[in-house]
Amino acid sequence: MAPLTVLGIESSCDETAASLVRGEVPQEGAPKAEILSSVVYDQMDLHALYGGVVPEIAARAHAEKIDRAVEEALRKAGLTLNEVDALAVTAGPGLIGGLIAGVLAAQGMALGAGKPLVAVNHLEGHALTARLTDGAAYPYLSLLVSGGHCLLGIVDGPGAFTRLGASLDDAPGEAFDKTAKMLGLGHPGGPAVERAAQSGDPARFPMPRPLIGRPGCDFSFSGLKTAARMARDSLAGAPSEQDKADLCAAFQAAAAEHLARQSVKAMKLFAQRRPAAAPALAISGGVAANGVVRAHLLEACAAQGFAFHAAPLSLCGDNGAMIAWVGLERLAAGFPPSLAARPRARWPLDEQAAPLVGAGRKGAKA
Ligand code: KG4
Ligand code: ZN
Repeated sequence: MAPLTVLGIESSCDETAASLVRGEVPQEGAPKAEILSSVVYDQMDLHALYGGVVPEIAARAHAEKIDRAVEEALRKAGLTLNEVDALAVTAGPGLIGGLIAGVLAAQGMALGAGKPLVAVNHLEGHALTARLTDGAAYPYLSLLVSGGHCLLGIVDGPGAFTRLGASLDDAPGEAFDKTAKMLGLGHPGGPAVERAAQSGDPARFPMPRPLIGRPGCDFSFSGLKTAARMARDSLAGAPSEQDKADLCAAFQAAAAEHLARQSVKAMKLFAQRRPAAAPALAISGGVAANGVVRAHLLEACAAQGFAFHAAPLSLCGDNGAMIAWVGLERLAAGFPPSLAARPRARWPLDEQAAPLVGAGRKGAKA
């Protein structure tokens, strides 16, 4: 099959993104891909005042900026819409206003230009990033850690994901954000916690080890967040800079250990269930940008004999390239285009798995 060029559009939470990706998926061997352009407009300044994403503000900002993001992505790639083979757009899960803005814009462009449109699950975008960047071979284990989601499972192909674990309460990024807020470190909290933790002692404040001794590969982050708050409240007076650094370091180390411990269990399951596969773990999502999280998972992979694919920092957070790539893979695999797809605020990646209490509770994206 000849290489395809796909325009990807993402607007499920607070990034308006567009990207052009060219690539091919041969019958044998690794996929080949090139990111021709990737434009991401974040909305941090719009939401900073409120300490979190305000859905109505996000939806309006997407509607205002999608056309500009697409124009810029096409210009940077040196292409016109007519030269693109297909469009792909995030149709869920996420904040419904942003999804509607993205899907309507993409439908208009696809209809106008007479191009096929693929409706993409945002979580699949994160889960297939290792194919786009590293040419990872199916099947592999995927750990998706972000502000809205925490999902661990086996990726066998586009549309073929088996969940092994998910968060029973907060998503990891949400716990980072709440810890940062509680210490007055600002939003988004993940990078702020990581920065503060650099000069902290992770051993000063003891942290629980969530779900230790329990079977399965699920996650829980609300206990860590609460432990951090209780440690802060145990201090005499307002926390000093050193107190904050030590608290951040303790929380971050415990979160990273928890992610690694549950991932090791999933690696063992993967080895049992896919004995013929070359073992590999891919991590993606905003929290995958965290250096301590990456280091813990790298170490766990080395100990278990797994290859490790960490999404590049530019593609950990939300972006259009991962959406374009899923569109490309789906077209290459013969899935029909879906011009009439409807936005879906909730859309589990593994539709066969039983719903988890709390999973996707906030309806935000991954
Ligand atoms: O995937 P993403 O861009 O979108 C959401 O699903 O929200 O991830 C954003 C999340 C936020 O919670 C943010 O605090 C977290 O990822 N994050 C980090 C880091 N960078 C972003 N968490 C920990 N360490 C980081 N360096
Ligand atoms: Zn995401």
